[in-house]
Amino acid sequence: MEFLKLKHLRFFVSKSLLFVIVMALIIILPESWGFGRRKQQDVVVEYRRPRMKYLEVPQIVWGLNNQKIGFARACLTARLLNRTLLMPSLSATLFYKEIDQLQPISFDKVFQFDKFNSLCKGFVQLGRYSDLQNHSDILVVQKGSGRRWTVERDLDQLKELLRRNEEFETIQIVGKNPFLWHDHFPVKDYAKVFECLVLVDEISKEADKVVGKIRELSKMNGGYVAVHMRIEKDWMIHCKKREERSNVSDICSSKDEITSRVANIPGLKTPTVVYLAVADALVDDDDGLILNGWSEGLVAVEKKKLGVVQIFNMHPYLIQAAIDYQVCSKADVFVGNSYSTFSSLLVLERSARMSAVTGCGIGMDVRWPSFAYNLKAMGGSGARPWITSLSGSSLQEISYGSNNISC
Ligand SMILES: *[C@@H]1O[C@H](CO)[C@@H](O)[C@H](O)[C@H]1NC(C)=O
Ligand SMILES: *[C@@H]1O[C@H](CO)[C@@H](O)[C@H](O)[C@H]1NC(C)=O
Ligand SMILES: *[C@@H]1O[C@H](CO)[C@@H](O)[C@H](O)[C@H]1NC(C)=O
Repeated sequence: MEFLKLKHLRFFVSKSLLFVIVMALIIILPESWGFGRRKQQDVVVEYRRPRMKYLEVPQIVWGLNNQKIGFARACLTARLLNRTLLMPSLSATLFYKEIDQLQPISFDKVFQFDKFNSLCKGFVQLGRYSDLQNHSDILVVQKGSGRRWTVERDLDQLKELLRRNEEFETIQIVGKNPFLWHDHFPVKDYAKVFECLVLVDEISKEADKVVGKIRELSKMNGGYVAVHMRIEKDWMIHCKKREERSNVSDICSSKDEITSRVANIPGLKTPTVVYLAVADALVDDDDGLILNGWSEGLVAVEKKKLGVVQIFNMHPYLIQAAIDYQVCSKADVFVGNSYSTFSSLLVLERSARMSAVTGCGIGMDVRWPSFAYNLKAMGGSGARPWITSLSGSSLQEISYGSNNISC
């Protein structure tokens, strides 16, 4: 009996022991696996989300080109501070005197957000407000304006920010159009940002429709010349004043001068369609006068003649300008005014697109030839070949009223 009891007890003990061990395994193992998993997850989360730093800027304003330049400067400031730029608002309208009237339009309604980030990866990135972890961890920085806010003071402020950069998740720049004025960045950095700006499909399809209409007319080879004509009254008043102030005579070009300089571009293949990019709202041309006076072989068209007015009228100012810009950008030959920012940015982008710039005086020999009609070619009567030098140390050197066109 005793023996049996003992045996029984042993059996019971070993059973219990086994039970305890199994239970322990059941309880402990999954927890340790789970614990291990969670730990790994923590590491992944931390790895994916280093404490990102952001730069926030006010709504970007004025014409298409000023908005592109303002946006690029905001990007380059973010790059300087090693921060992600929170996607800013652009302005759909041009009424800039009354800030209240500036209809904001989200950047991603005009340009592709993801495309921007993939093309500009490693250079500068855009973020969304929903990425912010702490909406109150903000340093508000007032940028100055006016004469006393010099380019040096602006740069000193940026350097000071760089010293305090680790403190805040977001640096919020406030002030009156803080990115319109001072320039601390080389031309090639602007070119890089512009390269990453790709229109959203909805808008680029509109531009494609316009380009399609032009190419239809140009049955011979499908190519076309785009001329950015600045002849509206506002511009004429502005450019005459500038000519007086800077004692030069090559800023303003009359329609006759433009038609003659385009016609005399050496090597221009004719007949060809010539698309006239004009700001219709500003040009009083009900009689279609700008279509007259072009020499034989140059078939001038504008929006009305192409039957695309409707396409433009469906959109606010900014989109209209973006469509016109795209049409000029895709032209086989572009002719503009070297004092116009619209023209300058176009030639900058066309020049940046050429893989190797072989020099000047070559005119038609480059892949994306551009010309300035306000300047006469050396030793000729045509418009002067125009290539943007990407080695400039600031945008000022190639834009904002410069006749420095490298050629
Ligand atoms: C820039 O920021 C990233 C992430 O925010 C960080 O990993 C990197 O070390 C920073 N680089 C410099 C030079 O501060
Ligand atoms: C957010 O930032 C503020 C200001 O730096 C700080 O006081 C607060 O503790 C932060 N909140 C969290 C949840 O980190
Ligand atoms: C303007 O330029 C012309 C020649 O380019 C020169 O003769 C004239 O003195 C200049 N006038 C002024 C006020 O600088």
